[in-house]
Amino acid sequence: MDTPDKIKSYDKYKRSSYESYNFKMPKIYDDLFWIKIFKVDAWDQEVLAQLGDSLSSIRVLDVGCATGRLLCRLAEAGVKNLCGTDLAANILDVARKKFSSFDVIADLITADAEEKLPWPDDTFDYVTLTGVFHHFYQPQKALQEIHRVLKTGGRFILIDPWFPPVIRQLLNFYLLFFPHDGDCKFRSPKGLLKLLDSARLSKLRLNRVAKTAYMIVSEK
Ligand SMILES: C[S@@+](CC[C@H](N)C(=O)[O-])C[C@H]1O[C@@H](n2cnc3c(N)ncnc32)[C@H](O)[C@@H]1O
Repeated sequence: MDTPDKIKSYDKYKRSSYESYNFKMPKIYDDLFWIKIFKVDAWDQEVLAQLGDSLSSIRVLDVGCATGRLLCRLAEAGVKNLCGTDLAANILDVARKKFSSFDVIADLITADAEEKLPWPDDTFDYVTLTGVFHHFYQPQKALQEIHRVLKTGGRFILIDPWFPPVIRQLLNFYLLFFPHDGDCKFRSPKGLLKLLDSARLSKLRLNRVAKTAYMIVSEK
C-alpha cells in the first residue's frame, strides 16, 4: 500500500508515523523493548483505574490504538463497547485479529486524529490516548476532535512518556531533524495542561505513572 497523497504532502512526522506503523511495526510492536522499559502495563492499569465500576455500560475510544494493546486489556476487564482508530491501516489489522478471539466487537477504523475522527459528536464516555500525543504536529486539531466526540461530562485520559527537562529538550532538538518513528515533540506536563485548557477540557488532574510517564485526566 502506498502512502496516501494527503500524508505525502503533509508533515514529515505524520509520514514517518505512517511508514513506521503501517509497514515496520505491525510485526514487532508488541515485543518492542520500550514497551517493557516504559512499563506500559502500568499505564494500562492507570487507565483502568479511571474507568469506574460500570465497565459493561461505558463506550470507550482509544485514539492511536496500534495493535489494540490497551483495548484488549479493557475488554479483558469487562468493557464491552470499544472503538479504536489509528493512522496506519496495517497495524489495525493486527488488532482485528486479536479481537477475533474475544467475545467483544471492537469498532476499529483507520483515521488521522489530526484531521477527523470518524464518529459523531458526543459519542464516548471515555477517550484514551496513550503514547500518542508526542506524534502530533498539530495537537490542537486532535484535541478539538477528541473534545467533539466526547459526551458532555465524558473523560479524556492522556498518558505520554516523561523525561527530565534537559533530556526532553535534547530529544526534541534531535526530533526537529530526525522524526524517529513519527515522534514529533515531547511536551512538559505543564505545557500539556495549558493545551488541554485551551481545548476547553476542564477538571484537569495530573499524575506521574510508573516514573516513566505522566497522565492527565480531563473532562468535557
Ligand atoms: C507509540 S504508538 C502507541 C500505541 C498505543 N496507543 C499504545 O499505547 O501502545 C503511536 C500510535 O499512534 C498512531 N498515530 C500517530 N499519529 C496519528 C494520528 N495523527 N492519528 C491517528 N493515529 C496516529 C501511530 O500509527 C501509532 O500506532
